Amino acid sequence: AFAPLIDPFARPIQYLRVSVTDRCDFRCTYCMSEHMTFLPKKELLSLEELDRMCSAFIGLGVEKLRITGGEPLVRKGIMTFFEAMSRHLESGALRELTLTTNGSQLVKYSKDLATLGVKRINVSMDTLDEAKFAEITRWGRLPQVLRGIDAAKEAGLRVKINVVAIKGFNEDELFNIVDWCAREDHDLTFIEVMPMGEMGEETRLDQYWPLKDLRATLAERFTLTELAENTGGPARYVRLEESGQKIGFITPLTHNFCESCNRVRLTCTGELFMCLGQEDNADLRAPLRASESDDLLIAAIREAITHKPKGHDFDYSRQKVKGQMTRHMSHTGG
Ligand code: GTP
Ligand code: 5AD
Ligand code: SF4
Repeated sequence: AFAPLIDPFARPIQYLRVSVTDRCDFRCTYCMSEHMTFLPKKELLSLEELDRMCSAFIGLGVEKLRITGGEPLVRKGIMTFFEAMSRHLESGALRELTLTTNGSQLVKYSKDLATLGVKRINVSMDTLDEAKFAEITRWGRLPQVLRGIDAAKEAGLRVKINVVAIKGFNEDELFNIVDWCAREDHDLTFIEVMPMGEMGEETRLDQYWPLKDLRATLAERFTLTELAENTGGPARYVRLEESGQKIGFITPLTHNFCESCNRVRLTCTGELFMCLGQEDNADLRAPLRASESDDLLIAAIREAITHKPKGHDFDYSRQKVKGQMTRHMSHTGG
């Protein structure tokens, strides 16, 4: 009989993040190294397998599906997968189908996404300065992303801009980004940089701009009102009274939101990560491929959820970053 997924800390698991590819057409410095070795195609779940996998989770009570990558929209045939997932929207089993994207392919896909029932999307964009954008994304070009964002808006998609807060990089753009989002009527979320991916001499600590500092700077010009609402993601929201706009803060380092964690992450090879900040994962590809029935898969999902840890180990409070992980963010999709 149907029993929803509840982890050992009594948290219901209703949000699945799915990385559909490890590839990306950008190389953001905090996410990937310039020369990445990508997975061979046969390691990847096919679009049909992704459909089966996600449908099993939805059958177990997952209500929110976020498609990520790498860059999800560079996966070949990805609209077929969105189309498959949209049937769960129609049936009412899925409440939200959405994605996090770098925006590079939005000119091409915004209309289709809207038609298939996507209502809002998150676009990663850390700076509005063309030269700085090219620096942080290495291969990305800002005008292409801005055109993509316009296309999304035109197609009727609500856009949320994700900005990773990076000391010495986009501190000086804070008000500029906030004002731009107000003018364009986009929501906005700031994210604390997390210690992932290999690094040379410097660590993410050097780049760490605590959001409580960012918030204090914002408060110099705006009146901030805490909002109680929650999108089911980790962001906490405030309203800026003067502009009426909504701003989110994702603070894995200064504020631990793990106690209300409702999500797990599926990689493009079928590993299930129980926490973004832990290496523990379960292989779901083997049970998926072992039989045509979903029984083994469902048993493996339930088993995996019993291992969901209480929280992550990121810690910037000491001089050295503890919990730095060599896994890249593109592996689990953020
Ligand atoms: P909304 O539905 O808009 O609330 O989306 P979201 O914030 O869940 O999704 P998005 O892909 O925009 O996530 C933004 C970033 O928040 C992710 O890329 C991660 O960097 C971070 N994040 C999301 N979930 C977790 C989590 O469980 N743990 C940690 N440490 N960070 C997370
Ligand atoms: N720390 C914080 N956020 C990150 N992202 C990628 N790498 C990191 C990191 N090391 C963000 C992207 C995107 C989201 C999926 O994750 O900018 O908005
Ligand atoms: Fe690509 Fe997003 Fe990673 Fe940048 S952060 S390299 S856009 S997956």
